[in-house]
Amino acid sequence: MQRIKPGRAEHLITVNGEQRRVSLRPADTLLYTLRDELGLTGAKPGCENGDCGACTVLVDDVPMKSCLLLTMELVDESRPRQIETVEALDRAAVQEQFLRHWAFQCGYCTSGFLMLAEGLCRQRPDADASEMLDWMRSNICRCTSYAELIHAVADTLQRSAREGAEPAHP
Ligand code: FES
Ligand code: FES
Repeated sequence: MQRIKPGRAEHLITVNGEQRRVSLRPADTLLYTLRDELGLTGAKPGCENGDCGACTVLVDDVPMKSCLLLTMELVDESRPRQIETVEALDRAAVQEQFLRHWAFQCGYCTSGFLMLAEGLCRQRPDADASEMLDWMRSNICRCTSYAELIHAVADTLQRSAREGAEPAHP
């Protein structure tokens, strides 16, 4: 039988569509749980202070900085919160546009920007340029790939608007 470590308690959280059992201390951040308990290392530790966004994930489709969330806040067995990490994106439209525009250099910020942009596409698919720029200000790229990032996200929004406007049965 698996022994629970002192100071921890077992809980269920929902990550990338699957219920996962995790052994939590009250002060564990979601970033820590994802990386160190579940081995999902797509969310990156940067400032760990809410400034850089390298740790961004989606919670119920909303981008959130996982370094600022306590995992205990997301344990709710009556209404599980849906946590998504970059590992859940599978050739999403936004990933294709990041590749097309080379919207990265070292890549450390990339998973956070991908989740931020994916959240924008889900929450505000009709965002105009100024709304998109405001949204993207939440994260930082130390390699300053901002122009490419903006082009990639703008193209993702435009393409999904075009596809949404096309009749399903032409
Ligand atoms: S590591 Fe979370 S915002 Fe920087
Ligand atoms: S690509 Fe290096 S930090 Fe953004």
